[in-house]
Amino acid sequence: MYDFTSSFVKNPDLLVHLFIYPSYLGINGDEMPEKRIKSEWSAKNPFPTVISDNYVLNGAGSRKETRHIVFDLGDSGLDYKSGDALGVVPRCPPELVEEILSICVFSGEEEVETHLGTCTVREALTNRYEIHRVSKKWIKGLLERSGETPGQAEIRIVGRRRYSSTDGSLILDWKSEEDGDFPDGYVEIGDFGDNSAILLHELISDPDSMEDYIWSRDYVDALADFGSIGFSPQQLLEGMNRLKPRLYSIASSPDFEQGTVHLTVAIVRYSHHNRERTGLCTGYMADRCETNSSQVGVYMSPTRSFVLPEDGSKDIIMVGPGTGIAPFRAFLQQREIDSSSGRNWLFFGDWTEEGEYLYRDEMEDWKKRGIITRQDLAWSRQGDEKVYVQHLMEKNGEEIWSWIENGAYFYVCGDKQYMAKDVHATLIEICVKFGHMSPVEAKDYVETGLMKTEKRYLRDVY
Ligand SMILES: Cc1cc2nc3c(=O)[nH]c(=O)nc-3n(C[C@H](O)[C@H](O)[C@H](O)COP(=O)(O)OP(=O)(O)OC[C@H]3O[C@@H](n4cnc5c(N)ncnc54)[C@H](O)[C@@H]3O)c2cc1C
Ligand SMILES: NC(=O)c1ccc[n+]([C@@H]2O[C@H](COP(=O)([O-])OP(=O)(O)OC[C@H]3O[C@@H](n4cnc5c(N)ncnc54)[C@H](OP(=O)(O)O)[C@@H]3O)[C@@H](O)[C@H]2O)c1
Repeated sequence: MYDFTSSFVKNPDLLVHLFIYPSYLGINGDEMPEKRIKSEWSAKNPFPTVISDNYVLNGAGSRKETRHIVFDLGDSGLDYKSGDALGVVPRCPPELVEEILSICVFSGEEEVETHLGTCTVREALTNRYEIHRVSKKWIKGLLERSGETPGQAEIRIVGRRRYSSTDGSLILDWKSEEDGDFPDGYVEIGDFGDNSAILLHELISDPDSMEDYIWSRDYVDALADFGSIGFSPQQLLEGMNRLKPRLYSIASSPDFEQGTVHLTVAIVRYSHHNRERTGLCTGYMADRCETNSSQVGVYMSPTRSFVLPEDGSKDIIMVGPGTGIAPFRAFLQQREIDSSSGRNWLFFGDWTEEGEYLYRDEMEDWKKRGIITRQDLAWSRQGDEKVYVQHLMEKNGEEIWSWIENGAYFYVCGDKQYMAKDVHATLIEICVKFGHMSPVEAKDYVETGLMKTEKRYLRDVY
């Protein structure tokens, strides 16, 4: 039986969402209704549950795989509000675990010490470390270890292959033809005198090579390159990243979807070195969790700030392309069930309307019934022009400004690196143009006034 208590590892992402504090619920501790009492389930002690529904949201022919995944909350007592996130504890792919054990010639039953206590090496590789991406620390640790190799081994290089980490194409396929020949560029530098030493030297001395190497490789790849060093089960684990839970913005309102919690998940899939790979948690949920059967550890990660206005008559503007739609589905469900009178304006976008209009039927129904007051859709790979949400914001700048002037809340969810920055800049430009401010004043109005003082520019970006 999987020990859920042993799987928590510190994750900086978790700082984004904190445990429930009565103050932000607008009530003091004494008045806290029973329903809101902090659950016993947490990142350290996740609730073991099942996925009760799991289906692809994309249209036929889409090159994306975005899934709607529903977890059953059963008798956990877990509660949440629209805007919160769910923590999911993944497990490593069993076939990858077995392949590593087989390469190292371990039975899997060998005992090892980990940050969470003693366990078998199979359990450590399954539930305690991230084995789908090799870590820099593990590689760096090899340098010290390579010197430890007992005795002097005579090694003859009989072949060497290298693949491009960008497209997986074969860039070197060298085979030895006679005793004593070496691949081009070979230099004898280490005691464990095969190409592992050259590669290790290159990775340690060149940070770009290191990044490039770890970006596309797991421990099966790394053991093919460095297995000659030799590992005990304990040595194998040294420097591996500890397994971390992943957070997902919740896509449901607890009042609308009672007893369940819904997610909108972009499945990470890619191919490197002729092997298909997935992100750890998205691959786990998409491929390895059987609906209504496999046990998955989950916990709530409440937000203190990304919440609907207490006053339901306030207007809201929501900008959430791609999986950024998740909390806005929750918000719309909540505004519907609360019969909030405020207007709801949604900016959504993705590649194409045909393939990636997530929750089309629900959104169209909300539009028809006036729950979505305004909707602007940005399709980035449809037609000649790239249309992004901020382009549609620009087009509607005057009206956005009038909503904001009228006290509307402005929410952004999704990609932090590019989208959220561009949306932020566009919001400032709108204030310059229609609020008649200088760029400096507009920046201050958005970043201090809206964000910090009035707390009506709120972001859930990752
Ligand atoms: C507060 C918060 C809310 C979030 N909400 C959502 C949400 O609602 N929906 C959602 O889908 N995600 C959400 N995320 C992101 C989510 O937590 C995970 O990071 C994401 O699902 C990937 O996890 P994974 O374990 O599958 O991938 P990991 O195993 O962690 O791998 C992801 C990494 O794979 C790498 N990668 C991607 N493509 C390639 C490639 N071709 N080659 C090599 N490496 C590659 C990237 O570096 C990426 O960082 C949220 C994150 C936070 C912090
Ligand atoms: N930081 C993160 O970890 C993070 C955050 C978000 C998404 N992702 C990853 O990205 C993949 C898909 O995620 P997703 O489905 O949520 O979609 P997404 O990649 O965020 O894309 C959604 C839409 O946003 C567009 N977009 C790209 N750059 C933009 C910009 N600067 N401004 C505004 N819009 C922009 C995309 O267009 P084009 O693609 O046509 O340019 C697409 O139409 C997943 O693998 C997910 O894990 C990672």
